[in-house]
Amino acid sequence: MSVICSNDKGWVISHYDYTKKIYTNVLSHSGFIDLAYNQNLFNIITPLMRDAEAQNFLKTISARSRKEFVFAKDLPGSSLDSDIIDDLAYKTLLKEARQLHLFTTSPSPKDYLDNNKLARTFVDNFFDTITEKYSTFQGGNTNNHSLIVNIDNGNYVIPPLCNFFSCEIHEINNKLQENKYDFILLDPPWKNKFIRRKKIKNVKKSYYMLPNNVIEELPINKYLNELGLLAVWCTNSPTHLEAIKQFFNKWNLEYVAEWFWIKVTQTGEPVCNVAGKGDKKPYERLIFGAVKTRNLHNPERGKVIISVPSAVHSHKPPLSEVLSAYLPENPKCLELFARYLLPGWTSIGNQVLMLQSLPLYEIYT
Ligand SMILES: C[S@@+](CC[C@H](N)C(=O)[O-])C[C@H]1O[C@@H](n2cnc3c(N)ncnc32)[C@H](O)[C@@H]1O
Repeated sequence: MSVICSNDKGWVISHYDYTKKIYTNVLSHSGFIDLAYNQNLFNIITPLMRDAEAQNFLKTISARSRKEFVFAKDLPGSSLDSDIIDDLAYKTLLKEARQLHLFTTSPSPKDYLDNNKLARTFVDNFFDTITEKYSTFQGGNTNNHSLIVNIDNGNYVIPPLCNFFSCEIHEINNKLQENKYDFILLDPPWKNKFIRRKKIKNVKKSYYMLPNNVIEELPINKYLNELGLLAVWCTNSPTHLEAIKQFFNKWNLEYVAEWFWIKVTQTGEPVCNVAGKGDKKPYERLIFGAVKTRNLHNPERGKVIISVPSAVHSHKPPLSEVLSAYLPENPKCLELFARYLLPGWTSIGNQVLMLQSLPLYEIYT
């Protein structure tokens, strides 16, 4: 299960638990094994800050009694911006999660100084091992169990009943042909300063970005069936949010709902200040559109998903379970600009297998 707590306002998801569930009984060269993402990926104990910020912060609170110290309560604006997110949804979900003994981690001063070092080092080491080149290939898994495969000298875990295309998005028509889908998920490589800066510092940790007019030209309506639902991950940039309205016009879709993914540390507190600079917020948005003929239950407005994010930038939580209430049984789902695979889904992107790389996983017993 990825959903570990839910109420009428939304869901708490464990991305780690989800991988543990889908990667039970993975066929490897030495027989069946049980895998999950390496726990270090989600080892986000304290809010995401630069080392210097974390040290300064610790100095300010050291002056006070340690007993009264609860880190996130000291963050200015650490409660959510109720104009945008239903603050109550976050609070009630968190309260219910804590009653289930979730988010009980209590960081020490050393944790603040370490500044999520385990997670950051794990991810840095991973990016050091991968190549920058994008290759074109495709594949899938017709089995009911996951497999480990070797492609281009890399080992990858492939979930059951999935298809993938490692290619440029303009090749979509060649790859998908006449297929149609109940659900399409898009996580566009929006042009943004953060990725541009990452590209300068470490090209492997970044990715190519696309201008909005190229995203708008994607033949989305060709691939949605008459029950079709679409969701677009969006940053908090007003330009990107505005662009989605134009995309929906072009794709002949009706706006349905906006959800918020609230990223929290293992203590349950937001990963950064809501009142932080620019677009840097502890949440991202998921905007839903539907074909006008759709007569299935649509996602309700303003729901929230709470989860501890992976330390890989822009790594989104799996949505299969939370979306099942809005999709037919065994839905046909497609993800564009994917970096990881899901059971039963078709995924396309120029880094489509990146987060399926075996070094990101560990055997659990
Ligand atoms: C925001 S990331 C997607 C993150 C992904 N949803 C996840 O959870 O990890 C966007 C992805 O689109 C890819 N991309 C950028 N330009 C592309 C293009 N022209 N064709 C295919 N993929 C592209 C990037 O390399 C990157 O992997």
